[in-house]
Parts: sequence; C-alpha cells; structure tokens
Amino acid sequence: MSGPIASSKVSRPIVLIALIFLYLPHTFAQSHPNAKDLLKQMTLEEKVAQLSQLPGFPIHEFKEQVGDPKDTLRKYGAGSVLWVSDPKEINQWQHIAVDESRLHIPVIFGLDVIHGYHTIFPAPIAMASSWDPRMVEAAQTVAAREARAAGIAWTFGPMVDIARDARWGRMVEGAGEDPYLGAAMARAQVLGFQGTQPGALDRVLACAKHFAGYGAVEGGRDYDSSYIPEEQMWNTYLPPFKAAADAGAATFMSAYMDLNEVPATGNRWLLHDVLREAWNFKGFVVSDANAVHSLITHGYARDGDDAAYKAFSAGLDMDMASGTYLKYLADEVRSGRISMQQIDASVLAILEAKIRLGLFEHPFVDESKIGQVLNNPEHQHLARTAIQRSVVLLRNEQNALPLDKSKIKSIAVIGPLADAQLDLLDMWGALVKPGPTVDIVQGIKNKVGSAAEVEFAHGPNIRRDIPSFFENQPIVTVKEQPEQTPEEARKAFDDAVALAKRSDVAILVLGEIALMSGEAASRSSLKLSGGQEELLEAVVATGKPVVLVLVNGRPLNISWASEHVPAILETWYPGSQAGNGIADILFGDANPAGHLPVSWPRSAATLPLYYNHTRTHAPEDAPDFKSRYWDIKSTPLYPFGYGLSYTTFSFDNLKLSQTEAKVGGSVDVSVDVTNTGSRAGDEVVQLYIHQQAGSASRPVRQLKGFQRVNLAAGAKQTLHFKLGPEELQFWSPTKKQWVVEPEHFDVWVGDNSQAKLHSEFHLTQ
Ligand code: BGC
Repeated sequence: MSGPIASSKVSRPIVLIALIFLYLPHTFAQSHPNAKDLLKQMTLEEKVAQLSQLPGFPIHEFKEQVGDPKDTLRKYGAGSVLWVSDPKEINQWQHIAVDESRLHIPVIFGLDVIHGYHTIFPAPIAMASSWDPRMVEAAQTVAAREARAAGIAWTFGPMVDIARDARWGRMVEGAGEDPYLGAAMARAQVLGFQGTQPGALDRVLACAKHFAGYGAVEGGRDYDSSYIPEEQMWNTYLPPFKAAADAGAATFMSAYMDLNEVPATGNRWLLHDVLREAWNFKGFVVSDANAVHSLITHGYARDGDDAAYKAFSAGLDMDMASGTYLKYLADEVRSGRISMQQIDASVLAILEAKIRLGLFEHPFVDESKIGQVLNNPEHQHLARTAIQRSVVLLRNEQNALPLDKSKIKSIAVIGPLADAQLDLLDMWGALVKPGPTVDIVQGIKNKVGSAAEVEFAHGPNIRRDIPSFFENQPIVTVKEQPEQTPEEARKAFDDAVALAKRSDVAILVLGEIALMSGEAASRSSLKLSGGQEELLEAVVATGKPVVLVLVNGRPLNISWASEHVPAILETWYPGSQAGNGIADILFGDANPAGHLPVSWPRSAATLPLYYNHTRTHAPEDAPDFKSRYWDIKSTPLYPFGYGLSYTTFSFDNLKLSQTEAKVGGSVDVSVDVTNTGSRAGDEVVQLYIHQQAGSASRPVRQLKGFQRVNLAAGAKQTLHFKLGPEELQFWSPTKKQWVVEPEHFDVWVGDNSQAKLHSEFHLTQ
C-alpha cells in the first residue's frame, strides 16, 4: 500500500496532521472536495475499488471472487453500494467508508427507485400512458426527494428500452414501443430525478438503462440475444437514450444481452463510439448486475482477466456487483493492457459525481428528518393524480362507465388482484420501502362510503407455471399467491360468481401478479392465466353489468372481453394510491385520458407488433389486404395511441404553414380540437408523419408530436406543432448517415396512430 499516510519516511508534522485526519474522519471528508487531489493520493487498488459497486447483501459469486463486501469497503473504499434500502443500514455502510477506509471517501448508494421510494407512482408503462411528461417529471421529483432523504443518491432509472414484444416481461419498466414518446418520457424522468443541476440534496443521479437494444431480445425471452441492424438502432432503439443523455443523465447502465453477437457490457461501439464519441457523454457507465463476470458465460471473455479487460476497454467504468474489476483490473494495469490514464479518467468521473452530490459534506442520512419527507401528503396526492392521468379506458359501451353511486346499492369486487397490496406496486415498487397501499377493494369502499355495500371475492389464486427466482432474493418482497387444491380453487371461483349474482354490478380486477412481469418474467402467451378468463366469462354470464379492471405489466389477450365486457380499464400497476385513483375514474370524479404507449395485440402469436413498421409489398391499407395470417387478424386489437374518455372530441381544420418547404426548413401544423361531449376532459392530440419515398423505405407512420390538452364541454382549441429537421430526419441505411430528404410527406393528426385527418407537404432541395 502506498500514499501519504502509509509512507514510512514522513516527517513529524505530517504524521501529526495525518493523525488528526485519522481521528477526525468527518472533518477530513468534509474538507476534501477536489477530485484530482484525491486521485493523486489513491493506490491502484483504491482506484479499482471506486470502479466497483458492492452488493449490499452477500451474493455467492461476489463472495467467491472477492470475499466479504464490507471488508473490501474497509480496506479500499468503494465507488458504490447497491441493494441497501434501509436508512439505518445505509448509515452503517457509510460509516465504514467514511470512518474506516484510508481515504474516507463516501460511497454512493444506488437502488432501483423506478417509480417511487415510499410513495409508489404508477409503473413506467402507466406513466407513459399519461402522455404527460410534466406529470412524470413531477412524480420522479418526488421519488428522488424521498430516496435522497433516505440516503439513496443514485437510481437505476429511467429504463428507456423500446419494447415491441409484449412477451418480454420488462415492457412494464419502460415507455412502450415508440422512440418519440420514449424520448419524451426519458427526458422527463431524467429531469425529475436529477433536476437541471445534478447533485442537489433533494435529487438523485439518474441512470439510463439498459444500453442498448434489450427490448429486442429474440422471442421476447429475457436475456436472449438481440440482432438489431444499425439503422434500427439509430432510428428506434437509441433515441430515448440520446434524449436521456441530452437531458444530462449522469450515468448509463449497460444491458445484459448480446447485441449483434457482442455483449452490450463489452460493446465498444455502444459504450464508446455512440455514447462518448457521437453523444459526448461525460458521466460514467455501470454494468448491469454481474454482467462483467457474465462476459465469460456469454463466451465472449476467456476468464476473469479477459472479462475485466474487455468490459473496461469497451468503456464500462463501474462493475455492478460481480467483483471482477476488484479481482482482476489492477493486474490488467500492471500488465500494461490498460493504462493508468484510462483508470484515472473513469475514477475521476465517479469522484466528481460524489462531489456534485455533496456526499463529502453530507455522507450520512439524518434519520430524524426522513419521516417528514416520506409522509408529505402532497406526495400521495400526486400519486393519485398520476393514476387518474395514466389509466386507459379501452372500452365503454353505452357509457357503462362512470358508475353512478346514487343508483347502485351493492358492488361485487372480484379478483385475485383487487386486494393484492404489494402486487399493485409491481416488483420494483414493492422492492424498496413502500408506504401503505390503498388496494382496490378499499378504494371503492372509500369512494362509495355508506351509499352502497361493497363485498369482495378473491377468486382462484394466480401463480406462474415456472416460479420466479426473484421470489427467493432477500430484497424482493413480492411473492406468488399460495398454491390451492383444485377444491379450494373451485370454491373460490363459485363464491365469486355467487357474489356477482347477488350484486348490482361486478368489478373484476384481473391480470398479472407482480412476479408475472418485469425481469425474468417473459411469457409465451398473453392469456388471463389461472382461471381468470373462465371467471370473467362466468361472471359476464350472470347478466350483471361488468367492469373489467386490468392490473398488469403488458397488454393481455382480451379478445373475448373486447366483445363481451362493456367497460374495460387498463390501470397497469397503479402504485400506492391504486384503489383511490381507480375509484376516482370508475365513479367519474376523474375523466380518463390515458392513451396506449404500445399496440395492443390480439394474441402473442402476432408479436412483435408495432405501428411504425415499414409499408411492405402488401400494405394494410391496400384494397385487397386482409391479414398476414389466415387464422387471426394481424392488426392490433387497439392501436398505439388509443384511449377513450367520458367525453368525445373532434379534430378538424388541419392546416400546414406551407405545402412546400426547403430541406432544412420547417413546416408548422395547426389543428382544431373540440370537446364535443357534455363534460370536461383531456385529449392527447397526436401528430404522425410518413415520408413517401427516399433512400430507404420509411415507416407507414411515425409519431412526431403530441400535446395533452384539457377542454371544457363544447370548448375548442387550436394546437400548433412544428415539423423541422429534427422531426424529419432519419438514419439512412444506404447513406449510412442522418438525412433529411427532398420528398413528399403525409401528415395526420388525431387521437391514435390510425388518425384519419390528413394533409401533405413536399420538401425540396
Ligand atoms: C436489472 C437492472 C437493475 C439491477 C440492479 C438487474 O437485475 O436488470 O435493471 O437495475 O439488477 O438491481
């Protein structure tokens, strides 16, 4: 070990000063905010430790490679610790770093605060359904405030992977299928987590993940390989990441899968050429958990040395939890394969992040102040508003909704998710330190009070056919529903149907428990599993009015329901205020305006499915086009951008500022939107374009603008959009660069991706 404190040839005054620093570690830490000075004092091992993130609970692989993470922290310090969510424990770990490690450098605590820490907001796919970036930014501001108060200074979000295949379980964590909406949500979330000045004491560092192409895993099977041509990377998968980088995301996380046969964690094209060269990213990149070590599993690295070398030289600054850097990286420097300058550059980025976060001045959590932040009633209020704004009304025949509580005397709430408190939060929401959840039974009771009797029947339990390995992880709190005997399941089924029969209305809450979506939660079918479809059909057969409330992380196969259930509400995983927010919509105290951020498939067989596909030899709008399959319609059940309201809207007067413009110029688009119904409501106005010819076939439609507006009954508003080079460019596979081409363009405006109101313009040289 080297450095000023360990050196034996130091003079007396230096020893004295060193001793003072040793016994006053906090003073030392507080007064040492210069990254370059700090770097000069560090041994190679201490530098490598800064490039390492230690697991906050013992994981086998780490222990085998390195030993006890706390010993490492004591000996060398560390860049970060993850998976510790309890403030007391956070302080314990931080005391080791600040009091006991030689240079007293604090660690950054990282955690998946994906949609809330204590107040849990709707899951990201739900928030994307709001098409309301301002609300999303506000929600993530609250998530950051709560997490930071508890000592978490870094969240592993936003997850900005484009997902076009609902079999992939992680669709729930992102903003859906569209690069434009995805970019807007990425920006909003980064700003919410970080603010405009990353590091403020009520903010956390954001981490755009999983870089990149994870949503395209083959067959929707989690961790499988992605094969994505470069043009699709630039045009579809990368824009949300670019938006996150432009919004100032301090960190990125590399993905698990092979991208075109090079694992993302060792992929220099991604981590260096795109991220640092093309986008000028200045933050640091962390691997996904254990992904550096798994470069060996991929068959990409020969051994630990090679894995450390390949990941680091690709541009991966920090090893999450695998211990591979700790064990091998210093040797790679000593052998000359990696230079000290390269190491220093990565360490500096991490030290600078710690300085910006104020960790040297404020390394510890003030446990006495946490409650005040977490229990702020405004946070719960925002969580409820977020649900009201996220829920998507998929069907509402003959105004089945809203329910009129003055006319209903008895309500049956039925289904295995209606009272499943943790499941309503999704796995990430339940993982951290969630506050109390208002479940759906409770929310409906709160809403109707004594006006109607509310009874609950759970129905049969739902379980995965193959259990999730997350169930046994120490920090994962969600569980499968208990196994039932066939007799128990039958009784639960019959009780539910009997309850529906004796009630005025049945509200069925069906879908997926939390472990059925998210990581390692891919599925081959989108059916309502575990007897839920049969339960739905039996309840509808009673002849009672039925409302289907879906709680799930991906579109499900609701083909039967879409023809037989009068009202269908998609709520995704709604979060802490689930019951209250949903009841607000069911009983008309809020008017739904969520719109789908994904195309809704009829069946898993049609996946991947997305609206912005190319026109092909046989376009869907050709007169003789029927379907690409002969046994099922290949079109979505509900198109991307779709969502109903309790009022109606009309669109007209679509105007372009010019029908001819020069390449590099822009065209202004305006449209009138009128609330033609009898109550106030929000509409999500969407603008789509199509380039009619060019150096490549272009998608049939591409979203290039949207606005969510509130209109009183009868009110009309003129909305304006701009189509400039940013919106009209694409990365051309034949020209291998970004281009805006002199061609004819279609424009549509409306309330989903099949909008009819149309105009055209021409770009000229
Ligand atoms: C997930 C990441 C997550 C990390 C840390 C991994 O398994 O893929 O999304 O951030 O764990 O919890």
